[in-house]
Amino acid sequence: MTRVVRVDPEHPDPARLAEAGAVLRDGGLVAFPTETVYGLGANALDPAAVARIFAAKGRPAHDPLIVHIAAVDEAARVAAAVPERARALWARFAPGPLTLILPKHPAVPAAVTAGKPTVAVRIPAHPVALGLIRAAGVPIAAPSANKFGHTSPTTAQHVLDDLGAAVDWILDAGPTPVGVESTIVDVTVDPPALLRPGGVPREALEDALGGPVVWRGDAAAAGEVRAPGMLPRHYAPRVPLWLFEGPRAWAREALWQTAAQLARGQGQRVGALVPHADAARLRPLGVVVADLGPEHDPAGMARRLFAGLRDLEAAGVEVILARTVAEQDVGLAIADRLRRAAAHIVRPASRAAAS
Ligand code: TXA
Ligand code: MG
Repeated sequence: MTRVVRVDPEHPDPARLAEAGAVLRDGGLVAFPTETVYGLGANALDPAAVARIFAAKGRPAHDPLIVHIAAVDEAARVAAAVPERARALWARFAPGPLTLILPKHPAVPAAVTAGKPTVAVRIPAHPVALGLIRAAGVPIAAPSANKFGHTSPTTAQHVLDDLGAAVDWILDAGPTPVGVESTIVDVTVDPPALLRPGGVPREALEDALGGPVVWRGDAAAAGEVRAPGMLPRHYAPRVPLWLFEGPRAWAREALWQTAAQLARGQGQRVGALVPHADAARLRPLGVVVADLGPEHDPAGMARRLFAGLRDLEAAGVEVILARTVAEQDVGLAIADRLRRAAAHIVRPASRAAAS
């Protein structure tokens, strides 16, 4: 039986955390909030517990997990070395939505890293996550707590919907504050490589390092998959998502015209995941709208993104229409997740509007 345990996000009850920590030490699975999304945790040093993560998610064994620790000085338990660049980034962004790829320590089972010589390490900025890691007394391997290939969970209910009975405990501290996953940076290569845009903006990384961080996101399209998070269709809703890209006014117009055609012309049940300013014009068409909030607030849009996708799925829409937003700051992560959800099938707005 899955136990859903409510905890205060700022001041979680130490007794509950101690119990959940014991579940982890005993080889159990505990889903917990981080500042980005909910994670599905197991003792990272216990291969049998780690195997349960892959089984619960339906995750292929070749997709490695992130190991969560509570402080920089614990990195020595899971990483064979912590390069100067890693220290510089953690000095600025730990705890926070940043994951570093480091050389792996022999104590970390091969199952965690999918046989790679490197390990992904993260220090989450959420009192519940930090308290749980400390209570467990072991590093915690945790992917996002969704079924493989589905949208990441930002609430305990999302975890329950996807994984249900496969999880022993779910610590419920309400919605997660960042809403998109951590930024992943490979610091074993020079210059460091951005493997996944996320909660820490690329601009901030480059500022902290005083040098470039290369985005290899395009490598996946060229056939070189470095992080399976880059698989073209990875953050996918369960209904098709059509993404409109291009100058903002054109993309808005193309989205609206398509919505009108599908909803009015063809009688389809249409969903739209759009900034607040687009919503009012779509609702009269009978479109189900997930409102991302003001476009000048990328952090707010990131927070609402995954829940919006799930709400539209739950509303039973046949297609979801979305458009990209400015790619500054966390906007890069939003654009990245939307492209993956669209399986990289994007509609250039000028053509769509003209057709
Ligand atoms: O915000 C987050 O990072 C959340 C929370 C729970 O911490 N976790 C998360 O984990 O998003 P997951 O498993 O959904 O995504 C981890 C990504 C995967 O794309 C995986 O391939 C990549 O990290 N990864 C893990 N270890 C790696 C390694 N050694 N080298 C390259 N990529 C790695
Ligand atoms: Mg994931």
